[in-house]
Amino acid sequence: MRIEHDTARLDRTAVYRLLTATVVPRPIAWVSTVSADGVDNLAPHSFFTIASVTPPVVQFTSVGRKDTLRNVEATGEFVVNLAPEPLLDEINKTATDFPEGMSEFDAVGVAREASARVKAPRVAASPVALECELHSTLLLGDSTVVFGRVVHIAVDEGVLDGNHPEVTRLRPLTRLGRDEWGTAGDIRELGRIRYADWPTSD
Ligand SMILES: Cc1cc2nc3c(=O)[nH]c(=O)nc-3n(C[C@H](O)[C@H](O)[C@H](O)COP(=O)(O)O)c2cc1C
Repeated sequence: MRIEHDTARLDRTAVYRLLTATVVPRPIAWVSTVSADGVDNLAPHSFFTIASVTPPVVQFTSVGRKDTLRNVEATGEFVVNLAPEPLLDEINKTATDFPEGMSEFDAVGVAREASARVKAPRVAASPVALECELHSTLLLGDSTVVFGRVVHIAVDEGVLDGNHPEVTRLRPLTRLGRDEWGTAGDIRELGRIRYADWPTSD
């Protein structure tokens, strides 16, 4: 037996809770930007994924209009910093609704480092930074999907196994429902099966 929901009959909060509790785990883009006035901003966004590889584009969604979105629109740039487990407390604090003009880097005490290709700084202690130039935005109701062309990728060599960023070294946090956070947890490796190797009944 299932509980069936017509989303048109649910209020916004109920839809939000069902979607965010079931589309899990979500990776977290810890997005750094700089305002037109030069104030650095940092905020987590879990409505985040790869949009395409050629060209390399990632996307995140601003639910409503926030400093991050305003800065991206003003400067055309942002950085997606991987959100690592040891920085859980700091990541959560950067989701505080600080007034515009107050930098989360300074308020929370997150160390910056200069980016290679964009003005927005990287989070120094994050193992991977995706430096992005704004590709386009898509307005969906009160939300804006931001697509960024990844122009530069910086990876801490300490997380690499050869050229491969190794997940147990990255220790990425994820977002679940409510105020829940997840870790990478149990990792399994399983190769994809080519049809040529598919066992037949013959
Ligand atoms: C783990 C986590 C994930 C979040 N994901 C999103 C998201 O995908 N989109 C969004 O608009 N806000 C998201 N938020 C809330 C923003 O981080 C929060 O509103 C923040 O204050 C926005 O900062 P800004 O105004 O400096 O851009 C998330 C918060 C947390 C803690």
